[in-house]
Amino acid sequence: MKVLLVNGGPHKNGCTYTALCEIARGLEEQGVESEIYFIENAPLRDCIGCLSCKKSGICVFDDCVNEFTAKAAKADGFVFASPVYYAHPTGKLLSFMDRAFYSGARHFAFKPAAAIFSARRAGSVASMDVVNKYFSIASMPIVSSTYWNHVFGKAPEDVLKDEEGMMTMFNLGKNMGWLIKCIAAAGIPHPENQKINTNFIK
Ligand SMILES: Cc1cc2nc3c(=O)[nH]c(=O)nc-3n(C[C@H](O)[C@H](O)[C@H](O)COP(=O)(O)O)c2cc1C
Repeated sequence: MKVLLVNGGPHKNGCTYTALCEIARGLEEQGVESEIYFIENAPLRDCIGCLSCKKSGICVFDDCVNEFTAKAAKADGFVFASPVYYAHPTGKLLSFMDRAFYSGARHFAFKPAAAIFSARRAGSVASMDVVNKYFSIASMPIVSSTYWNHVFGKAPEDVLKDEEGMMTMFNLGKNMGWLIKCIAAAGIPHPENQKINTNFIK
């Protein structure tokens, strides 16, 4: 059992990473493996709405998004993480998720997910709202913790001092590990959901 922990910030070993490491520790306590996936700091294409993925199942731009969705197919859960930028997630994370979810929704469905944020001061709850929407449109159970999913800091040392934030991350990891094990133990096939796609005016 494995969880992919996505760092959508620009700092490979920054505050967001520090929070993800604490989630990894919680998962490990539950006997669940994890991998931190850093979205490279290179220009990332936005979704251009070409719909070619509807036929091919992969994004037309063959970059880290296709690499990630291939990993996602084998994963059991996900955490998407970002620093807060102007009270929202990074543009990089949103471009990445638009393309990964549009081309690879089937790899995410019925797998537990959570969104976490690192902020110097404010904007993490508004950011959670944005990322949780990807999960709730993709049949993904959203995993919660014991407080809002955020840590405070401008540098990793600050995050390590945020005792409550780190506790929230640790508890989130444990909760996710527990849910993944429950799903595996139950072995209940997931529902075959209908797919009706109507425009508003037809
Ligand atoms: C462009 C930019 C915008 C930011 N906007 C916010 C903000 O709205 N609220 C906030 O609390 N911190 C904001 N910050 C600070 C970062 O969210 C914060 O330092 C974060 O912990 C850095 O995480 P990282 O080390 O993983 O990059 C901003 C930083 C940058 C570079």
